[in-house]
Amino acid sequence: MRLPGLIDPHVHFREPGQTHKEDWNTGTSAALAGGVTMVLAMPNTKPPIFDAATLDLALGAAKEKARCDYAQFLGAGPGNAEWGQREALPLRAAGLKMYLDSTFGELRLNDMSLWMPHFERFPKGRPIVLHSESRTMAAGILFAALYDRPVHIAHISLKEEVLLIKAAKEKGIKVTCEVSPHHLFLTEDDIPAISHGHPGRGEVRPRLATKEDVEALWANLNVIDCFATDHAPHTLTEKDGENPPPGFPGVETLLPLLLTAVDDGRLTMDDIVLRSVTNPRKIFALPEQPETWVEVDENAQYEIKASEMHSRCGWTPFEGWQVKGRVRRVVLRGREAFKDGNILVEPGYGRNVREK
Ligand code: DOR
Ligand code: ZN
Repeated sequence: MRLPGLIDPHVHFREPGQTHKEDWNTGTSAALAGGVTMVLAMPNTKPPIFDAATLDLALGAAKEKARCDYAQFLGAGPGNAEWGQREALPLRAAGLKMYLDSTFGELRLNDMSLWMPHFERFPKGRPIVLHSESRTMAAGILFAALYDRPVHIAHISLKEEVLLIKAAKEKGIKVTCEVSPHHLFLTEDDIPAISHGHPGRGEVRPRLATKEDVEALWANLNVIDCFATDHAPHTLTEKDGENPPPGFPGVETLLPLLLTAVDDGRLTMDDIVLRSVTNPRKIFALPEQPETWVEVDENAQYEIKASEMHSRCGWTPFEGWQVKGRVRRVVLRGREAFKDGNILVEPGYGRNVREK
């Protein structure tokens, strides 16, 4: 079966600064192996990406090493909201990421007065993505209404969140949202099995939620605009050590999990294409990728194994899961990029989709 190349609007590729977890080469290889031909990379790197110099740092590494197409987000900080005077900078980025709740990395905007200049000045034609959970999400949606501009809510996980977004959409507020596979396929009850005695392996932000929350996400799938992996690789040594960082890898397991849900009758292929291609392209103003597609064997059954993956982090919360649906071949802009486990395009083949 043929699908268009998937867009993953939310990945952490850790370069610059933490390439022992992942880099633009391994991250984009993992993406291709998962049928993802375009990624939008988050800015909570080391240093974080928040001005021209740091954006150049990330884009320089990506230009040299990326194997699939990409764009890089800027992060909102306390002192970098003068976007109006630097119009060119936002236009070179995927959009603006605002961390309104605490998570991995230094970017965090506690005080709502720090949100205001970003909402005022970031170009309206470019997406603002919010990491905002529960009541903070309600505040973020109020900002969308006050400033009359679209916001995209990252990785929703709770029943109260999907119901809030549903209500906001019904009022005409310009809000869209995404859900990550781990919040659709895992609950807090799965943490012991993921952990194998190392509780850090179950750490992710937002946290895995209750069965009732997960059921509410499935029941309100029509409210959810995109699937996004929040691919957040950390090594097993880090996950199993003291102060384990939150995050799960996800780009290589996204499509097999979704195809398995199709086989189970919980999703349709159209649901996948809408949320992994059509909607992200529209919401993030992304170009079409000509001569690009993914070939899957929807009948291939296999077991998920981190040892067969391309991510540098070396583990997956879905280890040992039986799935039905394998990515066989990926063609990216006319070139065979992946076939039967092998990456066939070189580092640097990937294009920055924000560059003319
Ligand atoms: O679990 C998470 N990990 N949530 C985030 O928001 C950040 C991410 C990371 O960068 O590791
Ligand atoms: Zn994230």
